[in-house]
Amino acid sequence: MIKVVDPQVGEEEKKAVCAVIDSKYLAEGPVAREFEKQFSDFVGAKNTIVTSNGTTALHLAIEALGIKPGDEVITTPFTFIASSNSVLFNGAIPIFADIDPETYNLDPEKVEEKITKKTKAILPVHIFGNPCDMKALKDIAEDHNLFLIEDSCQSHGAYFDGKHTGTIGDIGCFSFYASKNLPFGEGGAIVTDNEELKETILCLKNHGRTPKGGYYHVRIGYNSRTSNLHAAIGLEQLKKLPKMLEIRERNAKILQKELADLDGFALQKVYPKAKHGWYIAVGRTDRDDLPAIKVIELLKGKGIGSRQIYSIPSYEQPAYTEINDYYYWAKFVTFPDYSKTSCPNAERIGRNHFEIPIHAGVSEEDMALITSTLREIFERK
Ligand SMILES: Cc1ncc(COP(=O)(O)O)c(C=O)c1O
Repeated sequence: MIKVVDPQVGEEEKKAVCAVIDSKYLAEGPVAREFEKQFSDFVGAKNTIVTSNGTTALHLAIEALGIKPGDEVITTPFTFIASSNSVLFNGAIPIFADIDPETYNLDPEKVEEKITKKTKAILPVHIFGNPCDMKALKDIAEDHNLFLIEDSCQSHGAYFDGKHTGTIGDIGCFSFYASKNLPFGEGGAIVTDNEELKETILCLKNHGRTPKGGYYHVRIGYNSRTSNLHAAIGLEQLKKLPKMLEIRERNAKILQKELADLDGFALQKVYPKAKHGWYIAVGRTDRDDLPAIKVIELLKGKGIGSRQIYSIPSYEQPAYTEINDYYYWAKFVTFPDYSKTSCPNAERIGRNHFEIPIHAGVSEEDMALITSTLREIFERK
């Protein structure tokens, strides 16, 4: 079976983890600091702050920007639930705008329609590693004096107009979850050029301590630290990342070339100024007689892993439609009735997409099987 996820870890990572064990410095320390330095160089940011995962990165970023209960943050419903949950952790209100039907990213025009007096930020997600139209979103954020928080949890190695995703807005958040282009197992990071934000995040991630450490706490903070063990895997993966990104891109280009003329089938479109990071490749069926679940079944029958990812838009999740029944902040904040939210493009893409393996463990031979199988599936009447 060609797996949908297959982290490329081995001897190098084993050695690096063993070296941390030998050093007995298991907690977040020098190895994490080295990772931060090298990751800043990789993305072209002044500061990287590692965290326990991408969700905590988003949570801390939103809190550090001063977004408060009742503030509105415009985001996409076609993403992992953590994107909008992080807004809720701070008592703020996720407002969902629809996606572009071809790039699957926030449609800037739809974002503008959702701006109110309560809007404080836009939280775009570079979905599957495909950069959003950051020029349009940045212009909107500047015109309306809003923060731009990039959810770059899926977009390591993705660029818009020459800048790495996560470094274009006010703050960028990354995940190093096991499946990602750059995995720690569990881990995350915030990147920012703003020194004051950096200091606030360092304090928030470590129980409200100042850089002096110790048992003096200046604000209510969290434990959002990672460990040297995780960072050691990250450092090794960072060395391999350029090669792994090259393989992902090679595989994605094979799909684009071999399947361009296939009727009823489409791949995610990329903006002309963008370079996709190819975390995930998704196909889309535009045929009523060939639903995505059928395509997935046929792919699996040929030994090709596939699945649907965000088939339920975030606002349709029970956690959102029943939010007032159990959510603490709902006593103080009036949330929209999410059952009335409608983003037709997110709903349609949610139904019609399916994952195609292109990760760094997928060979050219595997790609030949994948493309010929997809042709067979879509050419069969
Ligand atoms: C778009 C997006 N946002 C946020 C997250 C949360 O990251 P993590 O799983 O590391 O907490 C993920 C990760 O899976 C993600 O894909």
